[in-house]
This record gives sequence, structure tokens and C-alpha cells, in this order.
Amino acid sequence: MRIVMIGSGYVGLVSGACLSEFGHEVVCVDKDTDKIAGLKRGVMPIYEPGLEEVVATNVKAGRLSFETDLKQVVPGADAVFIAVGTPSRRGDGHADLSYVFAATEETAACLSGYTVVVNKSTVPVGTNRKVEEIIRKARPDADFDVASNPEFLREGSAIEDFRRPDRVVVGCDTERARAVMKEVYRPLFLNETPILFTSRETSELIKYASNAFLATKITFINEMADLCEKVGGDVQDVARGMGLDGRIGGKFLHAGPGYGGACFPKDTLALLKTSQEYGVPTRIVEAVVAVNAARKQAMAEKIERAFGGVSGKTVAVLGLTFKPNTDDMRDAPSLVIVPYLQGKGARIKAYDPEGAKEARKRLNLELCKDTYEALDGADGVAILTEWNEFRALDLGRVKSLLKRPLMVDLRNIYRPGLMKDAGFAYFSVGRASVK
Ligand SMILES: NC(=O)c1ccc[n+]([C@@H]2O[C@H](COP(=O)([O-])OP(=O)(O)OC[C@H]3O[C@@H](n4cnc5c(N)ncnc54)[C@H](O)[C@@H]3O)[C@@H](O)[C@H]2O)c1
Repeated sequence: MRIVMIGSGYVGLVSGACLSEFGHEVVCVDKDTDKIAGLKRGVMPIYEPGLEEVVATNVKAGRLSFETDLKQVVPGADAVFIAVGTPSRRGDGHADLSYVFAATEETAACLSGYTVVVNKSTVPVGTNRKVEEIIRKARPDADFDVASNPEFLREGSAIEDFRRPDRVVVGCDTERARAVMKEVYRPLFLNETPILFTSRETSELIKYASNAFLATKITFINEMADLCEKVGGDVQDVARGMGLDGRIGGKFLHAGPGYGGACFPKDTLALLKTSQEYGVPTRIVEAVVAVNAARKQAMAEKIERAFGGVSGKTVAVLGLTFKPNTDDMRDAPSLVIVPYLQGKGARIKAYDPEGAKEARKRLNLELCKDTYEALDGADGVAILTEWNEFRALDLGRVKSLLKRPLMVDLRNIYRPGLMKDAGFAYFSVGRASVK
């Protein structure tokens, strides 16, 4: 099949590269000329484990290429995927669909032969019908269908997630489009991945419902963590005790500084917007959004308290990205925590293994070349992201570099007993503190 992927970001590039690995001929398109020029030279625009290799292999095999101009590649394509951003619209939280609609218009102008326009971006219910109307209006002569195919990959394990997804969801209304989509995902059909064909509205909603549910799980365990701290419980054990129940499951039950990233914050807000528009309140999601927003601030205050105030003090911050194994800083807890501490008079020395470039664009702070440089001379350390390399710090060295052996671990990667034995004042989430 000939496939065009519009948008070569976290989702488009991974999806395009993996679809080429399935044996299709894929062209990834992006408006960002630097990004495409870099990709042509083999430079990845994002940090995603395993991506560079999949791209290189498929470029070499002649199945994957990069382009800035849709006109060159859309005519004759079997499927044109739209994988552009749908950020929160400033002010009202609605999904900003301007990139999706612009990509739609551009695609419409150059359709030739039967083509399925497939929306991979996360879009509110009804958007794919709108996409169809836009194309129909611009090109009444065009032979096309519009399908919804939301993406569920996770940054940090995106390649594996795409190759071996829990499920693929496709919303389409015609047999013809369904046949094309089956062919697109043929290798997954063969290995019996569940592929759910449904209406476009249902497909659009599955994506939002899934993200809102996962955000709810995280928020729920975060509230249990607060309760644990008051009653003397251990949230890790609570989560394990809950998670062993097959009806609940242990994933997404890790207490921490609140969810962030490119999806949960904006998708929960967009779902609220949709439910308000249709007059069907989703009160659980409303609570999740409010609790999560308050949590980031509360975690900043937790650090401040643990330090006994931060004015005139240096806080070493380990991890800035919203989770490990990505350089993505969108809606990361660090974006609330760092400015709060700075506002209270702290000097921040930070280290993140892959996030420095993005962090520089969003935060004004001292970025160090490694963990130990960040720790050197600081009054204490706060771990905001659980990168693997922070899990096995040389505690003796940490202690010798800090002015005071003080650690705030917002990801619970150390055990309080171990930290006590190592002589640290240790504050984590939903567990007893060591003072
Ligand atoms: N990042 C994730 O983990 C993830 C997971 C699942 C779903 N999604 C959804 O996928 C969509 C894309 O997210 P992302 O994180 O990949 O975004 P991104 O910002 O990383 O990438 C979007 C890309 O689209 C390009 N673009 C925008 N308009 C264009 C146009 N008209 N023509 C060509 N290129 C254009 C931009 O230059 C950018 O490179 C969003 O709707 C998001 O919610 C994201």
C-alpha cells in the first residue's frame, strides 16, 4: 500500500516508520522544513528509544521517505493519515482543530483515485464527519472515505506499543474503507491483535474515554497517597493490594506528582468540553482535572516544606520531562514546580537525561550535564521524574555533594528504610517520611 502520514511528530513519525516496517511504502510529511531536512539526514527530531533504528532500516529498504509537500505524495496514495497536533485551545480547553482542518484542506486539494483519509489525531466526537464535509465541499468529485483510527502508543515505549498494541480501533462507515484499513494493519490481523471496527463517533470517544479513565486511576491513587500520609499507610502497598485484583489491575496506580504530558491534560479538558456541549456532565472527569491541577502545586509546596522553606537555598532537581524515556515536556509537573520554587527564592540546578533542549525553551534554570553536577553544593535534592539512572544513585556520593542529606522523591523510587539507614531526611509520596 502507499501511505502518506501528515505530521511527523511523536505519533506520525513512529506510526509512519512502523507502518513502513509492516511492508507499506510510507511518506512522512511535515510542514516543519528543519524537521524533514533532519530526518532526510537521519537526525531524529524527538527522543524515542528504538526509533532511529526503525527509521534507518526502512529508509535503507526504500519503504520510508520524508517530504514537505503534500502535492508530491497524496495523489495515488491508498491511505492518507492525519497525525497533527490537537492542543488545548487557549482559554476554553477545547481541542484546537485548526491543524487537523488545515491538513484536511491541503489533502482534499490533491486527492486522486480512491483514498481513505484516516484521522490518527485525538479529536472530539463529530470531527471526522466534519473532515468528510470539508473534503466533500472542496472536492465534490473526489472518491474517498474518512476513517477514525485513534492512536494509543505511549511515549517512551512507542515502537513496541505500535508493533504490539493491546488493540487497534477503527471507525469507518463503508466496507471499502474497512478493507483498506484491514490491509494497512494486516500484520497485526495475522498475529491476532484485537481490531475493533466501529462507527467513527464511537471510535473518537473510545480514545477520550480511555485517556480519561487512565487519568482517573492516577488521580485516585494520588488521593489515596494523601490519605496514607495522614493515617500512616503505605500507598505502594495499597496500590499493590488493589492491583492484584484482576478487576482493577496494577497499571497506572503509581502515586506521584500528578499526570502530565501531551495527552491526558488536554484530552480530559476536551472531553469535559464535549460533555458540556452535549449537556451530559462527566463529573468524575471534572474532579480528576481539578484534583490533578491542584496536585502539581501541592507537590511544589511539599518540596518547600521538606526544605524548611527554599528562600536563598539551592534545590537540585532530577528529571524535568513528564515521564522517563522521552524528551517531552508538555504539561510536565516540573513546569509548575520549578517556577513555584523559584518564586519562593530558590536557585534550581537541574539535570534531565534527554529533556534539556525542551526544558531550555520552557524554563529559566541552570541545566547541568549530569546528576552529580546538579547535586554539588545544593541544599537538597528533589526527584521529579523516574529516569532509570536516578534509581541507583551512589547515596554516599549524593550525601557528600549535598550541603544536607535531604531528598524529596516524588516518584517513590527509593525505600524509606534504605534512606534512613543511609542517613537521609527522606520525603516521598503516600509513605512515612524519614526526618
Ligand atoms: N504524543 C503522544 O504520546 C500521543 C499518543 C496518542 C495520540 N496522540 C495524539 O496524536 C496527535 C499528534 O500528537 P503528537 O504528540 O505527535 O504531536 P507533535 O506536535 O509531536 O507533532 C505534530 C506534527 O504535525 C506537524 N504539522 C502540523 N500541521 C501540519 C500540516 N498541515 N502538514 C504537515 N505537518 C503538519 C507539526 O509540524 C508537528 O511536527 C495529537 O492529536 C495527540 O493528541 C499523541
